[in-house]
Amino acid sequence: MPVALITGASKGLGRALTYALAERGWTLVVDARGRDELRSAARGLANVTAIAGDVTDPDHRSKLAQAAAPRGGDQRGRLDLLVNNASTLGVSPLPQLADYPLGDLRTVFETNVIAPLALIQLLAEPLTEAGGTIVNVSSDAAVEAYPGWGGYGSAKAALDQLTAVLGAEEPRLRCYAFDPGDMRTEMHQLAFPGEDISDRPEPNTVVPALLRLLDTRPPSGRYRAADLAASEVAR
Ligand SMILES: NC(=O)c1ccc[n+]([C@@H]2O[C@H](COP(=O)([O-])OP(=O)(O)OC[C@H]3O[C@@H](n4cnc5c(N)ncnc54)[C@H](OP(=O)(O)O)[C@@H]3O)[C@@H](O)[C@H]2O)c1
Repeated sequence: MPVALITGASKGLGRALTYALAERGWTLVVDARGRDELRSAARGLANVTAIAGDVTDPDHRSKLAQAAAPRGGDQRGRLDLLVNNASTLGVSPLPQLADYPLGDLRTVFETNVIAPLALIQLLAEPLTEAGGTIVNVSSDAAVEAYPGWGGYGSAKAALDQLTAVLGAEEPRLRCYAFDPGDMRTEMHQLAFPGEDISDRPEPNTVVPALLRLLDTRPPSGRYRAADLAASEVAR
């Protein structure tokens, strides 16, 4: 059965994707910082290993990599899929760039850019051996100039570019930046504090588009959930 590592799996999109892949029989390694919420998300799912920790922590990343693709001695684990989904919005309410606290901006880049690349570096071999797939979860804020979204958006833009270059450098892999669109999640509520976000779609409604990406394996690149969903309707 295929093996995947999904970061940020205790809530939102990561949790919805974990359920969908577990239902398909995948073997999964998942993480999030909050131990209890992660444990409860993984409860009852077969072949899911939950490891609590922060993706910005190198020791935690090593544990994830070793669990997902054990190496050493005669072990040469393969990895079919890495989903860099864990992410931080940064400061809430969203500040203008002129006022963005630089320490907080560093945390945004550590979480949303450096940690995903670090996991890719750790897992490049087992992913390449499997002819695997990397999904870096992006955002429309990477490509649109929304006031207040400069910190998060510039980090997602960096993640997009990193994904594009990886795709060009390593043709044996599929490297996708996946833009899910708005979803009714904790992160989205943080971006709109005090506002009613109940009109935003639930994260599980985005999962079919992501599964379509995984099933059809188009060339490496940037894909929007809305376009993938529309192409499914058009088929
Ligand atoms: N929601 C939207 O409208 C929207 C729109 C565009 C793109 N996105 C992107 O979609 C992805 C999923 O977002 P979401 O809305 O589903 O978020 P969410 O519901 O807030 O869930 C985020 C998940 O990531 C975990 N996480 C956060 N920081 C982490 C860290 N440093 N280390 C390990 N785990 C961490 C969280 O658990 P802990 O807090 O316990 O660590 C949680 O499991 C993100 O990449 C986000 O940027 C979301």
